[in-house]
Parts: sequence; C-alpha cells; structure tokens
Amino acid sequence: MPNKPSAVSSPVGPRPFVQIEALAKSYPGNAEPVFDEVNVQIERGEFVCIIGHSGCGKTTILNVLAGLETASAGHVFMDGREVSGPSLERGVVFQGHALMPWLTVRKNIAFAVRSKWPDWRAAQVDAQVEKYVALVGLTAALDKKPSALSGGMKQRVGIARAFAIEPKMLLLDEPFGALDALMSIVRETRQSVFMITHDVDEAVLLADRIMLMSNGPQARVAEIVRNTMPRNRQRATLHHDPAYYPIRNHLVDFLVTRSKDLSHGRAPAHPPTVEPGRAAVPAVVPPVLKAVA
Ligand SMILES: Nc1ncnc2c1ncn2[C@@H]1O[C@H](COP(=O)(O)OP(=O)(O)OP(=O)(O)O)[C@@H](O)[C@H]1O
Ligand SMILES: [Mg+2]
Repeated sequence: MPNKPSAVSSPVGPRPFVQIEALAKSYPGNAEPVFDEVNVQIERGEFVCIIGHSGCGKTTILNVLAGLETASAGHVFMDGREVSGPSLERGVVFQGHALMPWLTVRKNIAFAVRSKWPDWRAAQVDAQVEKYVALVGLTAALDKKPSALSGGMKQRVGIARAFAIEPKMLLLDEPFGALDALMSIVRETRQSVFMITHDVDEAVLLADRIMLMSNGPQARVAEIVRNTMPRNRQRATLHHDPAYYPIRNHLVDFLVTRSKDLSHGRAPAHPPTVEPGRAAVPAVVPPVLKAVA
C-alpha cells in the first residue's frame, strides 16, 4: 500500500507563539464592525509592525493583545494560553510614555522591576535597571526626573522600563523618537515585538514582517509583507539595498490606493504573504558569472 501523503491541510508541529484568531471589534449602534476576521500569527523573537490608516483599529488590536481591552469576537493566544487580562508577561509602551513624574529614571524602572521580581535584593534590582538604561543610552540621566528629559528621552525610558521586566512580548504604540534605541535594544535582547507605526521607513528598518491593514469600517489585516533584507540593516545604508525601494513602494501603494478599496470587509480573512523585495535581488548567481568575477 502506498504511503499516505503528509497532511497539508492539517499542519502538525508547535502552535505559533502568538495566535490572533478571527478577532473583531464592534460598537453598539454601528452597522459595521471597526475590524473583523483579523488572523495573524507571530513567532517567538519576531519583530512585527502593523501599518494602516487612522481609525482602522491598530491600537484596539494592541490593547487586546495587552489584555487591556476585550474584543467583540475572536481569540488571542500567547505561548499556549489565551490572553484574558493584563500581565507582566507583556510589556506595553504607550504613545504617552506614562512615567511617574515624581520619581527619577532609576526609580521609575526599579518600580516595574520590583513588581515583576518582588524577592530581588536592592543590588539585583539596581543592576537590572542600569543594564537596560545603558541599552537605551541614558546612563547619564539615571538620577534625573522625567521633567528634566526631552520627549524622545522619556520615550526611551519607557522602552527601557518595558524591556527591563523581560516580558514574553513587547507591545509598542507608535514609539516616535526612540528608533535608534529601539533598534539596538531589540538586537541585544531578541525580544518579540508587536509595534504600531505610521512610518513606512521605520517599518522597513525594524520589522521582519509588516502587517498591512485595510481601511475601516470592517478593516482587516489584508496582506503581510515579509522583509527580505538582512536583519543587521542600518538606517544610514538601508536605501542602498536593492530590495529597499520595492518594499517601500509596495507599502506606500497599499496605503495610498489599495487600503481604501479593501474596506468594508473586502480584504481576505487570511492574508497572503508577499515578498516585494525578492524580485529585486538575483536569487542565485550563475556559476559562470561567479567564475568570471
Ligand atoms: N466608544 C467607541 N464607540 C464607537 N467607536 C469607537 C469607540 N472607541 C473607539 N472607536 C472607534 O474605533 C476605531 C479604532 O480606533 P483605534 O484607536 O484602534 O484606531 P487606530 O488604528 O489606532 O488609529 P490611529 O492611527 O489614529 O491611532 C476608530 O475608528 C474609533 O472611532
Ligand atoms: Mg492608534
């Protein structure tokens, strides 16, 4: 008897680290949901950005991932468990950095570290705080209060605080002004990140995959763009990579034209993954050319 072919339709193997299943949000009195059928999977250690026009529901999805808001339908699983409320397993950086103004940078972060590890000795807490403050380049500001810092510096303190609790996943809502700090800390820690941005260059620089959200009402994640550029890409040289403009143009085209054609639930429930940067790079160098070169 011939062997049964492997089951393509029912994949085995481990469940993805984060699984967002048929997530929807609607408000009473509105004929159509804000978004529905949002289906996304995220792997451990992945950096995922979500892009879409204002009001399509990005912050709502992030808040559901954080356990701060409930969806109208669907589920979110993280590391095998359903997200049902806030937890120190997830670090959130809000757009307003939400630091305690009466505490220094050191004490703001120490407060979070002590909530996660209440048994730690003072020296352990201090070492953890100093490690993460150094990673965002703010050692000189350790004993300053937030009022003495610029907006971008406060944002970096917010990022250091979120990383310092070593969450399973970091959720960032438009962390404007903290790009370089974010890049170095992510490379150092291999943290899993879900980030909202309105800046396509930021997405291309940071993300392994970019979720493109269609316009509301009834918005969806319409397409997923895989970033095929090397992960050690740098801001200063990014635009020299042949894959850069095809990826960037694809994102801009989506935002400018396709996103509105896909409102009212016209986007697919299960988004395809595309690699617009792939065509720009020759897949294999023919051996003859290699020999000549
Ligand atoms: N209480 C409410 N009643 C009705 N609609 C609401 C309510 N709260 C939020 N919304 C709608 O939910 C939608 C999604 O809001 P959300 O903040 O998630 O959008 P967003 O994609 O993050 O937008 P932005 O890019 O502007 O931050 C918006 O269109 C908003 O009008
Ligand atoms: Mg928002």
